[in-house]
Amino acid sequence: MAAIDTSARGNWNTKLGFILAAAGSAVGLGNIWRFPTVMAENGGAAFLFIYALLVFIIGYPVMVAEMSMGRSSQKNPVGAFRALSNSRFFPIVGFWMVLCGIAILSFYIVIAGWTISYFFEQIFFYAGWYDLASFIADTDNGWLNAILAIIFMGLTISIILGGVSDGIERAVRMLMPMLVVIIVILIGYVLFQPGASEGLRVYLVPDFSAITPDLILAALGQAFFSLSLGMGALITYGSYLSKKENIPEAAGYVTVFDIGIAFLAGLLVMPTIYIAQSQGMVIFDDDGNLVAGIALIFQVLPELFHEMGGLIGLIFGATFFFLLSIAALTSSISLLEVPTSYTIDEHRMPRKKAALLIGGTVTIISIILSFNTGGIDILNYVFSDLGLPLGGLMICLFLGYVWKTENARHEIRSGFEGLDEHWFWPVWTFFVRYICPILIGLVLVVTAYELIGTLFA
Ligand code: PFF
Repeated sequence: MAAIDTSARGNWNTKLGFILAAAGSAVGLGNIWRFPTVMAENGGAAFLFIYALLVFIIGYPVMVAEMSMGRSSQKNPVGAFRALSNSRFFPIVGFWMVLCGIAILSFYIVIAGWTISYFFEQIFFYAGWYDLASFIADTDNGWLNAILAIIFMGLTISIILGGVSDGIERAVRMLMPMLVVIIVILIGYVLFQPGASEGLRVYLVPDFSAITPDLILAALGQAFFSLSLGMGALITYGSYLSKKENIPEAAGYVTVFDIGIAFLAGLLVMPTIYIAQSQGMVIFDDDGNLVAGIALIFQVLPELFHEMGGLIGLIFGATFFFLLSIAALTSSISLLEVPTSYTIDEHRMPRKKAALLIGGTVTIISIILSFNTGGIDILNYVFSDLGLPLGGLMICLFLGYVWKTENARHEIRSGFEGLDEHWFWPVWTFFVRYICPILIGLVLVVTAYELIGTLFA
């Protein structure tokens, strides 16, 4: 399969190839690192409930919108807005999306670096080299963070420069099912440990009084982050998609697959948090706030593997972190591909130069973040929680009122013959034109109102 081609615009040759690449982009640290952490911060099951709702009523319609804009325009986000309208405003929005890609990738590779360090931590621990194990597991060590982020960026760039799709397809087809199997086995193990039932209760029994505007914004940001939406990643991937493919169906597979993996990750991590807490690890403070912060899963999961003991613990631990780093890699590729394809298309730069230039810039920011991991929270809030929904809002407004749904219909019809008679069409257009922009707009306005309130309090 020759996909992200270095000369002409390539194509995903098979339908599965595209679905696998888009699923590879969606499934990553967002599902296994970010989802459980944000949920633990936001009261468990109530968050899960709102999250699932938002994935289907906002995420899925926006995903179809992005894919059809990409396939129709054959461009990166900036080029897509330009190609599909005469608007001067929307290309600026496209530029914002490119910026979001750069910012998110900058912290993404720091966290991805930790998946590599914990892979080695598991091995060193098994070998009895405890000092080395705790050295490599130190997420506060700036130099170590920086070196790991650089290694991860190097891997990402090298894949972007070579034939992307072959690697992605193989990785997703073989390794993702393995990740699912491993998580399911671990869930089975975890549920029998003392303390697990409390975690299960927090995860599955909602306390609806916990639903606040902050929780809703966090769930919306998480939905966009996890599905790779709002920054044109799927516009870019859609631009490599063949006209034969059924976009709503492909988006459906990706959405269900992504939320499925996140749900399983939650089922593993939430009980594990409570097991760790019952053994004395401090996870929440007296007010119920998360103390562990962004390194949460890297604190509780390795402990779980250590306690499984011996070779079994090593096999599960090392395989888990290996698979997680591959999942992160298939996502970081899509994060880098957005600014890279923008630079290639709009500034006529060769792919190699573009990838190195953007990759280099991202690496510099990530080195700064390696020494100041507190900055990750800020970037995460500004670019993921606010930036991605803002991008999604703009995509809905653009598709619904500037490019117009009639043009989208023409695009989606190709690959979906019965579209005109299908219930999908009126429902989707209603969501893209009204439901999604109103809901996203409402959440953003309430958040802005609250932010201004706290700034001037
Ligand atoms: N969806 C990826 C994850 O869950 O890890 C992260 C991501 C990739 C976000 C691509 C945004 C994006 F455009």
